[in-house]
Amino acid sequence: MGTSVNDTPMIRCTELTKVFGSGTSANDAIRLAGEGVGRSEIQRRTGATLAVHDVSFDVRPGELFVIMGLSGSGKSTLVRLLNRLIEPSSGQIDIDGRALNSLGDADLRELRNQRISMVFQHFALLPHRTVRQNAEYGLQIRGTEADARREKAEWALDQVGLADRADAYPGQLSGGMQQRVGLARALASDTDVLLMDEPYSALDPLIRRDMQNLLVRLQSELKKTIVFITHDLNEAMLLGDRILLLKDGRLVQVGTGPEILAAPADDYVADFVSDVDRSRVLTAQDVLREARIVVRLNERPAEVLNRLGGAEATGAYVVDDQDRILGVVRDDWLAGAARRGTGEIDRDSLVAEFRTTEADRPLIDLVDQVGRHVVPLAVVDEEKRLLGVVPRGAVLAALAVPSTNESGS
Ligand SMILES: Nc1ncnc2c1ncn2[C@@H]1O[C@H](COP(=O)(O)OP(=O)(O)O)[C@@H](O)[C@H]1O
Ligand SMILES: [Mg+2]
Repeated sequence: MGTSVNDTPMIRCTELTKVFGSGTSANDAIRLAGEGVGRSEIQRRTGATLAVHDVSFDVRPGELFVIMGLSGSGKSTLVRLLNRLIEPSSGQIDIDGRALNSLGDADLRELRNQRISMVFQHFALLPHRTVRQNAEYGLQIRGTEADARREKAEWALDQVGLADRADAYPGQLSGGMQQRVGLARALASDTDVLLMDEPYSALDPLIRRDMQNLLVRLQSELKKTIVFITHDLNEAMLLGDRILLLKDGRLVQVGTGPEILAAPADDYVADFVSDVDRSRVLTAQDVLREARIVVRLNERPAEVLNRLGGAEATGAYVVDDQDRILGVVRDDWLAGAARRGTGEIDRDSLVAEFRTTEADRPLIDLVDQVGRHVVPLAVVDEEKRLLGVVPRGAVLAALAVPSTNESGS
């Protein structure tokens, strides 16, 4: 592993616990939680609610980190802990290397104004202010002067596709557009971190898909660190660089979508992921294989033919010295060349009977591409170098839901 310039996580949570309840009942609840007692039993015995228990994770700068769990699993509590809207019962949070609980009032205010902004499900827009004024709001609180404020707000509205609605009032906009205003306000504030608590849960599916795509695009361009809360696993898989799964206040699993699909931590997760549309989550990267035979121009046809025979293949990729694909050589040409005693593979003999893809393309885009040619679909990088191949069988196997074990219900 190489050492990167800055390994400090943007957000680090260490053994975070939050119990809602009075002093003694909360202490009892924490003790019971430590003994592994479940939330409902704790509630019954102490009257306190174990909202979040012993949760640790890091969010890297520029990451889109999704916290996913069913209603009541502790997501909102967790995200409120992150900007100290509520105080943890125990555990620690560091933002960009600084302990949150060490901040005084002034530092905390600065953190909320300048480092972390929040986007809510119910927009929290001010009804009597225009879209532009709503977008400016965070900056106004911060005391930014009018011109700079306006410039930032207009830039942000442009980012979310609402430049032409700046003078409208929130009530004149659809739910999706109002959510864009909420996002514009967060972007205008120009904070490093965006906390988004189920921002799209109230939107209908088509608008929601638009908003998801918008977020992915903004994320890739602006490189914000985003903590995105959802109860929808498909949304989590679509958006998340990594996903943290919460159940009854406890962390069940953290990983990338494909990691969680491939190795669910327990039956609960396995049951959950069985509903996921794998064809949209898994990408070429996830099913990439090393090409069994890669050929260079100076190789002898008779030898290449032997290798093909050994691999039961009828063709192979030919690459240059940079591993860029020149074309495909077929066994019938090789056989003829071997008969004629041709010393090297001839560039003119190569055929263009292959398809390529980038590593990040979802399998849904690839199912029509695999199995069409004598060579498997090639995965190439930006310089068109051959990274590996995607055999048809690998795609089909990845799309099949793994059978759950006997104990799963
Ligand atoms: N202020 C509060 N006082 C008491 N209990 C709370 C409070 N906030 C949340 N809870 C409880 O904590 C648990 C987690 O809630 P929450 O974090 O809102 O979950 P989610 O956002 O995943 O739906 C729930 O049982 C909820 O009833
Ligand atoms: Mg919530």
